Amino acid sequence: MKILILGAGGREHTFAHMISHSGKCSELFVAPGNAGTSKIAENVDLKVTDFEAIKDFVLDKKIEMLIVGPEDPLVEGIADFFAQNEQLKNIKLIGPSKRGALLEGSKERAKEFMLMHKIPTAAYESFTEESLEAGKLFMETLDAPYVLKADGLAAGKGVLILDDLEEAKKELEHMLAGKKFGAASTKVVIEEFLDGIELSVFVLTDGKNYKILPTAKDYKRIGEGDTGLNTGGMGAISPVPFADKQFMQKIEERIVKPTVNGLNEEDISYKGFIFIGLIKVNNDPYVIEYNVRMGDPETEVVLPRIKSDLVEVLEKTFDSKLDEVNLEIDDRAATTVMMVSGGYPEAYEKGKEISGLDEVEGSILFHAGTKTEDGKVVTSGGRVIAITSLDNDYKKALKKSYQNAEKLHFDKMYFRKDLGFDLS
Ligand code: AMP
Ligand code: GLY
Repeated sequence: MKILILGAGGREHTFAHMISHSGKCSELFVAPGNAGTSKIAENVDLKVTDFEAIKDFVLDKKIEMLIVGPEDPLVEGIADFFAQNEQLKNIKLIGPSKRGALLEGSKERAKEFMLMHKIPTAAYESFTEESLEAGKLFMETLDAPYVLKADGLAAGKGVLILDDLEEAKKELEHMLAGKKFGAASTKVVIEEFLDGIELSVFVLTDGKNYKILPTAKDYKRIGEGDTGLNTGGMGAISPVPFADKQFMQKIEERIVKPTVNGLNEEDISYKGFIFIGLIKVNNDPYVIEYNVRMGDPETEVVLPRIKSDLVEVLEKTFDSKLDEVNLEIDDRAATTVMMVSGGYPEAYEKGKEISGLDEVEGSILFHAGTKTEDGKVVTSGGRVIAITSLDNDYKKALKKSYQNAEKLHFDKMYFRKDLGFDLS
């Protein structure tokens, strides 16, 4: 089967790695890809939201499966674009329809969906510029801290958590009247703060059947001890040690089943991944957010634990036969540590040569922001390379990732050395 993966990060390199080991893949392309994917697939210079260009490429190369990595093309309706075109509709596209993708594309829609299908989440109300004063009054009824969420996609930056009521009111005004996040903050969801520990659950669904994939915990803050600015993710661990059987049962009954049933009831076509961000409060799970794709860097620890042939699993997903799949999971733990450019998530330099890549042993390197220049691998983004390791427990796996981190080098390289600090 000829397969195209859309995206350029560690998530997409991980998909490419898994698929390149499948007997079912004859030719693999990644658009636009990175230095890592170029070693195991052919990189194609396509923009992930340029549907016409993707169509031309897919038809020209006779692509049979398309895996959509990031959210933007999904929220813009790539699955509908394919489903509505006679020449494209049989290509096995993995990703939800536009209506499905709205669970990530609009925080308000996600909250309404949860309310409608009785899925546990924080209490909320949403406001626009016209209802700004009502929003301020609503905040007065809540206890600190105050959680403000831009309704639309804001590249992971649209959530503010503030301790001070007056400051929170000012920020609400900046978001609604000042368009702090542009069109994404035309509406703002204000919600109750949930105090607990976070984890993520990944679900693959064909719209009717589902499989729960391994859990993961990512480390979002730049600084050790979860301090400083939010990033795309500085590393991840799978499985999450505190997500025991009993807790997973609660997640399945209270969250996964009603989510898939809700999609069904609303007649939403959804063949793809659901990434459920959860918070555990007093042993009960609550949904913080839905994403309609796999997470990055969570993918770097979730997929390597799947022993079943990924292409076969995805084929069954598109064909609405996920119930026929017996998903085999590796019992070992997986960890990934993200090497980032100094300065990230604020301004950073690019084009730094990366050395030591060939010295890494016992871990897998998943490239994120890298490219090849004059035969050398150089940095091209804030998050540069994820080092994934597997071992009997997460501490052993982490040790391997950290040992290999010492072998890599680029100017101003930084990584967090405390992953898992909150788990023991
Ligand atoms: P989101 O973009 O919705 O995942 O939010 C970003 C981060 O804000 C989450 O990973 C949580 O750490 C935090 N967060 C979001 N909503 C809440 C909430 N209701 N209570 C506590 N923390 C939250
Ligand atoms: N690691 C968080 C995300 O992919 O959204």
